[in-house]
Amino acid sequence: MSATLDDKLDQRKFGSIVVVNIWLLILPVFAALGGRILWVGCRRYTAQYPALLAAEGAEVWTLDIDEAVARWGAPGRHLTFDLAHIDELLAPRSFDAILCNGVFGFGLDEPDAQQRALRAMARILKAGGWLLLGWNTDRCADPLAEPALREYLVPQSLGGLGARCRVDGVTHVYDCLRRTEIPGD
Ligand SMILES: C[S@@+](CC[C@H](N)C(=O)[O-])C[C@H]1O[C@@H](n2cnc3c(N)ncnc32)[C@H](O)[C@@H]1O
Repeated sequence: MSATLDDKLDQRKFGSIVVVNIWLLILPVFAALGGRILWVGCRRYTAQYPALLAAEGAEVWTLDIDEAVARWGAPGRHLTFDLAHIDELLAPRSFDAILCNGVFGFGLDEPDAQQRALRAMARILKAGGWLLLGWNTDRCADPLAEPALREYLVPQSLGGLGARCRVDGVTHVYDCLRRTEIPGD
């Protein structure tokens, strides 16, 4: 039986190196979905991620609230906007997957705004679409603790990526969520 992502993570207890290596495991899982993918939060070190996500033909967009980082986004497909209101910019059910890592607790800090962002991301996801939410236990409270969230985003494993992946010794949590129907939407 092949190793799951959780198994691989358990082999990578090298402090900050975990943060680098985990994307080499996660990005191919999402790239294999194809369709239209949104990467949230851009930095110099994420500049290659859109190309990796597009490796199997996906149309990849990037988003950040800070216009100064647009140069690290997907060429021709970058948006400068607040994630908490992304459903006011992008059409409902227009994305197959969203990867949002290190944004909650790094600018999007208030629990109400985080819940607004989760609902906004759910709205622009197609039914059955996927959200990878990466957050840190020392930067914010558990964003999935709000029971109402389960009405439109349900924890679910994907391609060897567990519904919730944690790594001993670091504060990173990676939640994999699947979009259900939004009541009244
Ligand atoms: C720590 S960096 C994380 C970058 C990248 N996603 C990663 O995985 O390393 C946080 C980024 O989130 C962006 N950000 C913070 N609040 C935001 C918001 N409300 N909407 C969109 N982007 C936001 C910041 O401008 C910053 O570029």
